[in-house]
Amino acid sequence: MKRDFTSIFDLGKQEIYEIFDLTKKLKESQKKGIKHKILKDKTLAMIFEKPSLRTRVTFETGMTQLGGHAIYLAPADINIGKRESVSDAAKNLSRWVDLIMARVFAHKTVEDLAKSAVIPVINGLCDIEHPCQIMCDLFTIIEKKESLEKITIAYIGDGNNVCNSFIAASALLEFNLNIAMPRGYEPNKDYLAKTKKAILTYDPKQAVKDADIIYTDVWASMGQEQSAEKKKKIFKPYQINSELLKSAQKDYLIMHCLPAHRGEEITDEVIDGPNSIVFDQAENRLHIQKGIMVWLLK
Ligand code: CP
Ligand code: NVA
Repeated sequence: MKRDFTSIFDLGKQEIYEIFDLTKKLKESQKKGIKHKILKDKTLAMIFEKPSLRTRVTFETGMTQLGGHAIYLAPADINIGKRESVSDAAKNLSRWVDLIMARVFAHKTVEDLAKSAVIPVINGLCDIEHPCQIMCDLFTIIEKKESLEKITIAYIGDGNNVCNSFIAASALLEFNLNIAMPRGYEPNKDYLAKTKKAILTYDPKQAVKDADIIYTDVWASMGQEQSAEKKKKIFKPYQINSELLKSAQKDYLIMHCLPAHRGEEITDEVIDGPNSIVFDQAENRLHIQKGIMVWLLK
């Protein structure tokens, strides 16, 4: 049976660690210059309804390093769901390529692609989840802290797709999750109902107090640009800055999925400071995409 990765909930704990192990090996091969053309002659179709730097470049580069090929389909190229149905697009792509990655607005689009395609489908971000990002982030935390056991992640900001994927992962893995957001911007209730590990607070100082990892994301996600000005005021107390970090314990690490809106959710001094691992994290998008693709096509 084909496997999909439309949500963190598509995986179990063992499968997540299988992908981490694969990713570690692929990263080591890449660093040592050892050829690892495991997906020779395979083709990945990449469907984008939204912009991207990291997701697009890391999937495409990853596929090249694995000996395969990636095709970038920009929003206007196939106009999925409008020029033709999601289901027909999936059935066509299934006849030509080996794997689909889709960055879309509605989660249902990724689910419908997965239902109609006979090849694996990867969620490259939707309005509900960003599962590839969270796999990358947890892999990065294990690299830095050796394990997720006893790790507390503080997510400060909008209860968005990235936050939801952290919540999903907290239901399966060993870490604790403190989430601080303004009232009215809480994450998805159905996701929260599936974990006992996520603790919500409206006080960012409380959330960072015992955190090993302090994480943030943009306040207005792609597609929500019209709310950006209003959110700047509401979210101001949730900015990751030196003042907030006075409440943190020593040895915290700063993470951000990027792109960052410097001066909004995070200050320059924090994102460029000694505790920031954001570019190690960004690098790992490349390695984790390779792990995910190899695992799905195994
Ligand atoms: N973090 C992330 O997914 O970046 P892009 O939006 O640039 O792909
Ligand atoms: N929450 C952000 C993540 C970007 C990688 C968005 O959806 O725009």
